[in-house]
Amino acid sequence: MIFLLKTQHSTSPFLTLKMMNKVKRRAFLAGSSALATLALGGLKAARAQGASGELNLYSGRHYESDRQIYEAFTQTTGIKINLIEGSADALMERIMSEGANSPADVFVTVDAGRLWLADRAGLFQPITQSAAPNLYRAVPSNLRHPNGHWFAVSRRSRVIVYNKSMVNPADLSTYEALADSRWRGKILVRTSGHVYNQSLVGELIDVLGESATESWARNVVANFARPPEGNDTAQIKACAAGQGSLAIANTYYLPRLVNSKDPAEREIAAKVGVFFPNQRDRGAHINISGAGVLKTAKNPQAATKFIEFLLTQKIQESFAKNGYEYPILEGISLDPVLASFGQFKSSTRSANVFGGNNEKALKLMDRAGWR
Ligand SMILES: [Fe+2]
Repeated sequence: MIFLLKTQHSTSPFLTLKMMNKVKRRAFLAGSSALATLALGGLKAARAQGASGELNLYSGRHYESDRQIYEAFTQTTGIKINLIEGSADALMERIMSEGANSPADVFVTVDAGRLWLADRAGLFQPITQSAAPNLYRAVPSNLRHPNGHWFAVSRRSRVIVYNKSMVNPADLSTYEALADSRWRGKILVRTSGHVYNQSLVGELIDVLGESATESWARNVVANFARPPEGNDTAQIKACAAGQGSLAIANTYYLPRLVNSKDPAEREIAAKVGVFFPNQRDRGAHINISGAGVLKTAKNPQAATKFIEFLLTQKIQESFAKNGYEYPILEGISLDPVLASFGQFKSSTRSANVFGGNNEKALKLMDRAGWR
């Protein structure tokens, strides 16, 4: 059974974000709907339970299928999970404000940029290789923190989605080529305040250097079909509607539309194709969902066991089939729609490095006029 400690939205002022500079703070405020606060009764309960065979899990992922995974963990290990859900930024803020008294054991979130920020705020404790050799075997070194502060549990690529009636995929090649003036007025992408774009640009900084990436960003902004608005799904829908011809989106968004119960969404999905960039050189940008054991964990063994559980075959299959994410383990069967995208070459750039370029990327996009 999962004991869910639901977060509440609060209208109270935000606490000072010591970890973020001015520009980052702007993005944080724009990107997070409201500061999530744990109901006081829930907090007391979580503290009381932290020291026993229970796990206080702070999750910035909001998938119904994740709840089934937590149930399965409890069934397998007998360790009960108290789930605290919220936006990743609000949860990080919460853990920081709880300080040494935080009941948090594990933090799960999407995007390497967020894991890097949580790590820089000093939230994680290391899981050593001797404590969890399986984790180190399962997760490639580019998809985990070098000292075991966090580990990827699933992968996603940030790809080009194109309007099939407007674009010949033979004309697509790389992220770099999106800067070409042939795409003037054609590119749909969400704001620079979103971490997915910060991580993609973070990788480009790693590959091209800062000044080349900045001129790339300027040219991509010049190619925008409209001022950035909406999430990745909104970009795909606008692309299908011909508002632009190319959308930048994470891979799991399109299968959601393809498998939608709403025929209108399925129709939208039928109008677009997926293109994996940079297949002739470094491979497509790979981002992750990841998890780490928190410094305040009263039960680090159970916390480690939980992360190991996320990397078992059965759970990897659940990520791939229910969340349309790519697994970390080899040989896991995918959802048929995800499988239909085909095999592709993945970039092996370090998630810790491009995640760590987060602030540089945001400032750079800001200078380039990427709002
Ligand atoms: Fe997403």
